[in-house]
Amino acid sequence: MAQITYVEASGQSTTVELADGWSLMQGATANGVDGILGECGGSCACATCHCYVDESRSHELPAPSEGELAMLDNVSSERRPNSRLACQIKASPALDGLVVHLPETQE
Ligand code: FES
Repeated sequence: MAQITYVEASGQSTTVELADGWSLMQGATANGVDGILGECGGSCACATCHCYVDESRSHELPAPSEGELAMLDNVSSERRPNSRLACQIKASPALDGLVVHLPETQE
């Protein structure tokens, strides 16, 4: 279980509890967080689940795969060093309290 806080570009913040193994994309779409679309359902093929992870904790996350890095080239908003695809990050107790910021647009 991990508590994750999503901060949308508008500043609206939503905190949800995610069961272990759920992706941050699933947590957002299942809880009405508008800033993540997740159009491909989590197969790393659409880049509409772009998020910016809290920089102070980004080293705690598993490194992005080659496929995720390639797909990050297709994000609609600015790509930053802390850009990740939310469908590729799975909840675990180690991520408890993580804050992710969402971009202005996903398409
Ligand atoms: S949901 Fe499509 S790349 Fe993440």
